[in-house]
Amino acid sequence: MGMSVKKSKEKSAKGWSASGGKKSASKSVKSKGEKIAKTYSVLRGMRDILPKEERYWKKLYHSIEDLGQYFQYGRIETPLLEEASLFVRSVGKGTDVVDKEMYLFEDKDGTKVCLRPENTASVVRAYIGNGLWNQSQPVKLWYYGPMFRHDRPQAGRYRQFWQVGFESLGSSDPSVDAELILIAYDLYKDLGLSVTVRLNSLGIPEERERYRNELVSYYRSKRSYICGDCKNRLNRNPLRLLDCKAEECRETKDNAPQIIDYLGSESKNHLMKVLEYLDAVEIPYQLDHALVRGLDYYTHTVFEFYVTDIEGGAQSALGGGGRYDLLAEQLGGKPTPACGFSLGLDRIVSAWRENLTKTNSEVPREKLDIYLAQLGEEGRRVSLRLLNDLRASGIKVGFNFSKSSLKAQMELADSAKVQFVLIIGQKEVQDKTVIIRDMESGIQEVADVKKVEGLVKRKLGRA
Ligand code: HAM
Repeated sequence: MGMSVKKSKEKSAKGWSASGGKKSASKSVKSKGEKIAKTYSVLRGMRDILPKEERYWKKLYHSIEDLGQYFQYGRIETPLLEEASLFVRSVGKGTDVVDKEMYLFEDKDGTKVCLRPENTASVVRAYIGNGLWNQSQPVKLWYYGPMFRHDRPQAGRYRQFWQVGFESLGSSDPSVDAELILIAYDLYKDLGLSVTVRLNSLGIPEERERYRNELVSYYRSKRSYICGDCKNRLNRNPLRLLDCKAEECRETKDNAPQIIDYLGSESKNHLMKVLEYLDAVEIPYQLDHALVRGLDYYTHTVFEFYVTDIEGGAQSALGGGGRYDLLAEQLGGKPTPACGFSLGLDRIVSAWRENLTKTNSEVPREKLDIYLAQLGEEGRRVSLRLLNDLRASGIKVGFNFSKSSLKAQMELADSAKVQFVLIIGQKEVQDKTVIIRDMESGIQEVADVKKVEGLVKRKLGRA
C-alpha cells in the first residue's frame, strides 16, 4: 500500500503505513497556470488493497468459503451502519470500543448511528429480528466484511479492517466451542500458519462479579505500584487490568487472583469439556488466566489466536472469540446460548505473506491459457471478437490492445508463460486466418479464424 504524502511519524513496523496528514487527508499542489489542484490521500488508519495483494485475499476468501460450506454455516450479510445503542448494550460501556472507538454520527432523521465496530451484535440482532430462533438450532452463520474502530493506527491496527466471523446460535454444548476453535485452527493450517490458541473461562456474571471484587480490592492494595493506565482501569473496567503490558505492573499482575478459583462447578465442567474436545482433535492450547477479551458480552469460554513463531516485538491477536450465552436476551430476544469468533484478515494476510516470503514462495498468479497478439486497427477488431468467443468457451486469454509492436506483445506472452500465442496481423485479417505459435518449439501454423476456437481447445486438451 502506498503513501503519497510526507512520511508519517507512525510509519513503524515493516510493510505498514497509514496516511500522514494529522488533520486533513488532502493537500494542495500548484499546477501549470498557477491553479491550485487538490490531491487526496486515503484517510488516516485506512488503506487501499491493490491487485498485487488481492490474490492473497481471494485465496483466503475461497478457503473461508470452503470451511463455511463444510461445517454447514450459512453466509450472512449485515449492514455496515447500525443503531449505535446496539453496541453500547452489547459490547458495553466502559470498553475501549464503545467509549473511544465508534464512528458515531446522527442520521438525517436524528437516529444515532455508527459504522459497525464488530459484527457479533449485528448477527444477534439479525437472529432475533428475522425470527431465526424459529428454525432448527443451532443456527450457524458466517460473515466477511469491513469493521470500523477509530483507534490509534499502528502496525496491524487499522481504522477500517476486515474480519471473517463464524457464529453458532442456539446451543450451549461445549462441543460447539470446540467446533469453532477447530474451524479457525483449520483456516490457519490451510494457510500454513502455525498458531497458538489461548483459552480461558469468564464463567457466569455472578462468578465474574465475585472475581472482579477480589481483583479490585487486590489492586487497590497495590495502587502505588501500578501504572497510570491501570489506575484508570481500576475504576473503569477492572478486568482489563489483566491486559496491561507495562513492566512496572508485571509482578502485581502475576500475583493477582485468578478467575479459575472463582468458577462454580458448572462453569469448570464446561471448560473441562471444551478442553477434552480440543484434545480429541489434537489442537494444542494454552490456558491463559489473564485472557479477558475487550468486549463485555462473554460468558464461559473465551479464546484468542496468536502466531506461534513470531520473532520479537509485541504480538497482536490474529483472532478471538468466545461464548455469549446472555447476549440475545440482553438485546430483547429469547434466551439463546451462543458462541463465535472473528479473525482479523489484514493481520492474517500480512502474517501469511511474511511466512511465504521466508520460504521464498507466493500465491501463484492466475494462469493464462493463451496470449492474443494483434497488429493494426483491423487486427484489433478481429482480435476483440475472437477474444469474446474464447471467453465464452472458458479459455483465459492474455492481451494488451494498447501495444502495437509484435515484439512487445511476444515479451508479454513470454512472461505470462503461455504455451500458445495467436497472432492476427493485416494479412491474417485479409485471409480470415490466425497464426498459432507454439512458444516452446517455435513452430507456427495458420488456421481458419472460424476453426481457431476448436483448435485451441484441442491443443489445451479441453475438447
Ligand atoms: P475482537 O477481538 O475485537 O473480537 O476482534 C477480532 C479480531 O479482529 C482481532 O483478534 C484482530 O485480529 C482483528 N482486529 C480487531 N481490531 C482491529 C484493528 N483495529 N485493525 C486490524 N485488525 C483488528 C470481535 O470483534 C468479536 N466480534 C469476536 C467474536 C465473534 N466473539 C464472538 N463472536
